[in-house]
Formats: sequence, C-alpha cells, structure tokens
Amino acid sequence: MPLRSVIAGCGGFLPPNVLDNDALAAKFGLDTSDAWIRERSGIRQRHLAGPGESATSMGAEAARRALAQAGVEASEVDAVICATSTPDNAFPSTGAHIQAALGVTRGFAFDLSAACTGFIYALSVADAMIRAGQARCVLVIGTEVYSRILDWTDRSTCVLFGDGAGAVLLRAEEGGNRGVLSTHLHADGTQAGILYVEGTTGPLRMAGKEVFRQAVNKLSSAVDEALVANGLAKGDVNWLVPHQANIRIIDAMGRKLGLSPDRVVKTVDRHANTSAASVPLALAEAVGDGRIRKDDLVLLEAIGGGLTWGAALVRF
Ligand code: UT7
Repeated sequence: MPLRSVIAGCGGFLPPNVLDNDALAAKFGLDTSDAWIRERSGIRQRHLAGPGESATSMGAEAARRALAQAGVEASEVDAVICATSTPDNAFPSTGAHIQAALGVTRGFAFDLSAACTGFIYALSVADAMIRAGQARCVLVIGTEVYSRILDWTDRSTCVLFGDGAGAVLLRAEEGGNRGVLSTHLHADGTQAGILYVEGTTGPLRMAGKEVFRQAVNKLSSAVDEALVANGLAKGDVNWLVPHQANIRIIDAMGRKLGLSPDRVVKTVDRHANTSAASVPLALAEAVGDGRIRKDDLVLLEAIGGGLTWGAALVRF
C-alpha cells in the first residue's frame, strides 16, 4: 500500500498586539490612508509581535495547537520542518528551537527558506519524506516576524505585512484517497531583484507592481498543473486557500477557478501578508471554524521572493 501524508491537525497563532491602518500610519508617521491600503490590498489591520515574541515562540504555539487538534503527543513527532525568512538565529534552526520548546526528543528538525511560498515548499518536502518512509509524523510550520525586517519609513511595503505562525501535523497513512495528492514547486532566480531582503537582516524591498503583474499568471499555471496531475477539474475543488498578499490577486484566482467567493478562504483583511505563515494560518482558521471538513478537496497556492511559487492539492 502506498503511503499518504494526511493533515491530522492544524493550528495558528497571532500575536495579541493588533494595529489597524490608521494606528499604523500614526505610529510610524506614514503618508498613507486607510482608504488607500484597503482599496489596493484589502488589508484592514495586522498583528505585530511584541518584544517577547519570536519566530520560535509563535511557531511553537501554532504547532502545539496543531498537535492538540490531531490528538497527537509531542513524543510521537519524528520531524519538524519550519518555513521562515525571519529565523531567531542563523543557526540553530527555528525548527530545532521549536523541537526543543515542544519537548520533541527524536527525529530531525530544519528550516527551509522560500519566502511567501515557504509553507508549500515545506509541505512538499514533508510529503516526499513521508512517502519515502523517512518520517511518519511531521510538523510543518510557517512562522514569520516580518515586522523586524521592514523599512518602517517605506509606505509602499511596510503597510502590507504582519506577524504570525501556522502549522499542520502530517501523519503517514496507508492507502485511502485522503492526504496530500501532489505538490508543484517553481522558482525563477532571475527575478530575485523584485522582492528581496537586503543582506540577512533587512530591510525588505519589493517592486509591488511587478510582483503583482506576474502573480496571477504564475499562480494560475501552478494551479492548472496540480489539477491536470490528478485528473481533476476546477469544479472538483471545494476550497481555495491562497497566499494572503492582496485581495485583488486572491479574488482573481477565485474567479479563474470559477469558485463562489465563499469557497475562497480570506484572512488578508485581518492578518495582512504573513509570508510563509499565511497559508497555514488561513487553513487553521477554516478548519477550526468547521468550513473545511473531512474529504474536502483543498487547493493551496503561494508566490513570493525568489521568485518562488507553487501549488498543492490536499484531500482532507
Ligand atoms: O507576498 C509576496 C507577494 N507579494 C505580492 O503579491 C504583492 C503584489 N503587489 C501588490 O499587492 C500591489 O502592487 C501593491 C499593494 C503593493 C501596490 O498596489 P498598486 O496598485 O500596484 O500601487 P502602485 O505600486 O502602482 O502605487 C500607486 C500609487 C503610487 O503613487 P503614484 O506613483 O501613482 O503617484 C505610490 O507611490 O500609490 C502610491 N503608494 C501609496 N499611497 C498611499 C504606494 N504605497 C502607498 C501607501 N499609501 N501605502
């Protein structure tokens, strides 16, 4: 029987400090407006980490919640794969710190860097390792503190991002039709200059219009690839859980798939862009409130610095 990677639990964590657009503009003296930010991006507010919060602390909390939802003990976990562009240290990895924070005592842990596409990449690696028999119970985490790499004087980027973490617990199951059906990863390093972090500590720089121009085309082709690979049609998809960068990109993807707006999970208005955390945070919300149910077909997609982009199809 082939092994499948089933999502057994999801969890999210958002720092309690919330700043709406007006409060952000006032705090940093930005020449912007709530109307501009909402209209161009769909963002109303973002959560920002406090001094005691970090990629590790937020990722560990999201992971605890994913374990609790799955009813799995930390002692059963045999791998922690963490997607982040804002690790606490160059090393040890955030994955290793989270492993320790959870009390996981066996297996392995590492970080993976693919910017906003990080969670899709991490899910892909975890799924391949489970199918290969290298691990059976894997925490896949996206955790980010972009507030620490933003230029708070640059209104064209700093209003767009927020902090947070999301996690899923993947468990090996034999046979059946549930689990990660396939993942589709892409990168084009020649596009590095349109979205990057200066050095390792920032600030982040983005040619927003250029990223926007490429986003819908690249995401659409990754999504088509995922459907074709599984012999599925757009009409088979129950939920789209997209990267939460801009409501206009999200809505365009929903329209491309012919999905009614209530089948597209949206958190960008409340979370802003939390990079690698955005897809697992949105998943955790829609699973937690009962929208996504067992056997639903869920399409995940993301695009970010690299450029990197990708899609995944998952049967819950
Ligand atoms: O997560 C990784 C993937 N990232 C993305 O997918 C982001 C993709 N890009 C975007 O979401 C959009 O391009 C933005 C939201 C970043 C910008 O929206 P836009 O409609 O492309 O605006 P723009 O960059 O063309 O800027 C329009 C105007 C400019 O002024 P001029 O040159 O027309 O006079 C900007 O200077 O808006 C100005 N502007 C602002 N005005 C008020 C830029 N930022 C702001 C601001 N407040 N915060």
